[in-house]
Amino acid sequence: MNPEIIKVQKSFGEALAHITTPDDLEKLSIEYLGRKGHLSNLFLSLKNRPDSQKKTFGQELNKVKTMLVQSLDKKRVEITKQSAQQESIDVTIPGTQYPHGSLHLVTYAIEEISRIFQKIGFIRQSYHEVEWEYFAFESLNMPPGHPARDDFETFFVDHAPDKQYGRMVLTPHTSSGQVREMWRLGQPPVRMINIAKTYRPNWDATHVPMFHQFEGLCIDEGINITHLKGTIEYFAKAFFGEKREIRLRPFHFQFTEPSFEVDITCDICDGKGIVNKTKCKVCKSGWLELGGAGMVHPNVLKVGKINPKKYTGWAFGFGIERVFMMKQGLKVDDIRILYSGDIRFLEQF
Ligand code: DAH
Repeated sequence: MNPEIIKVQKSFGEALAHITTPDDLEKLSIEYLGRKGHLSNLFLSLKNRPDSQKKTFGQELNKVKTMLVQSLDKKRVEITKQSAQQESIDVTIPGTQYPHGSLHLVTYAIEEISRIFQKIGFIRQSYHEVEWEYFAFESLNMPPGHPARDDFETFFVDHAPDKQYGRMVLTPHTSSGQVREMWRLGQPPVRMINIAKTYRPNWDATHVPMFHQFEGLCIDEGINITHLKGTIEYFAKAFFGEKREIRLRPFHFQFTEPSFEVDITCDICDGKGIVNKTKCKVCKSGWLELGGAGMVHPNVLKVGKINPKKYTGWAFGFGIERVFMMKQGLKVDDIRILYSGDIRFLEQF
C-alpha cells in the first residue's frame, strides 16, 4: 500500500484509540473524512499522480476510507453503550440530602394557638384582609366620624365605596370578623378563633405595618365574664406555661361593655416586677399586656342578628407577634427582625 495512505491510516488508528466522547469522535471524523480532511487531500492528489499509479492509489484510498467509516461507526456504538451504562440509575445509592427549610416563627405560633383553641371547641377562621369599613367599624359600634376609629389608624384602599358597606380598608383588627361570623352561623352558639393578618401604618422597633391578631368570640346563653377570664387563663397556661397568671384591667372599647385590657405575669421576674433588687427591665411592674377583651356590646349582637336579651358573649383580640415574643422570653429590641428574612435569626428556633 502507498506509504502516504499507510501513514494516514496509522495516525487515525492511534487517535481513535484515545477517543471517549461523542464530541471528540465527531471532530476526528471531520479531521479525516471532512471536505478538507486528510483523506480528501489524498483523493485530491490523485489527479497529479502518474497514470500508472492512479488506479491502485484510488482503490487503496477507497478501501481505507471504508475502513475508517466502519471504525468510526463501531466506536460510536461503543461510546453510546458506555455512557448508557454510566447513566443507569443505581437505586441503592443513598439520595442527596437537601438542607431542611422550616416554617416561619409566626406560622408556628398560629398553629399552636389554633390547636389550643380547637381543643375547647373553637372553630378556626381567617376573615378578610381587605375588608369593608362597615365590618371594621360600623358593625362594631363605631359609626362614621366616631373618634374611636382614629385608634385604628387605618389604610384605605383605592376602591369605589359601596352604598351599604362604605370604603374598603386593609383590616386594622381581627374584630372585623365578629359580625361576619355571627352572620355565617345565623344563631349561637358561636365559638370562633379568627386568626388573620391585620394592618396599621406604623413602622418602628415595636410595630410593623402588617402583623397578625387572633380574635376569640364566644356567644351563647348565660355567658359571662368568668367564662372570658377562664378561657384566657386556659390559653395563657397552655401557651406560656402553668405558672402564668392573668388579670383583667378595666379599659374602654366601643364594641365591648365592660371592656378590659388583659395582662399576664412576666416570665422574667415571675410577676414580681423585681429582679435582683432592681426593677424588671422587661415588664417594669410584674405584668405584660396581652391585648383587649370584654363582653360583646348589645349593639354588636344586634347587628349580628342575635337577640341580646337572650344571648351574651365575650370577645378578645391579641397580637400574635407580641405573644410569640413574650413566650420565648425574647428580648428582641426590634420586632422588624421577624420579617427581615434574616436566616441567622430564624435559624435559632
Ligand atoms: N380589636 C382591638 C384592637 O385591635 C382589640 C380588642 C379589644 C379585641 C377588645 C376584642 C375586644 O375582641 O373585645 O385593638
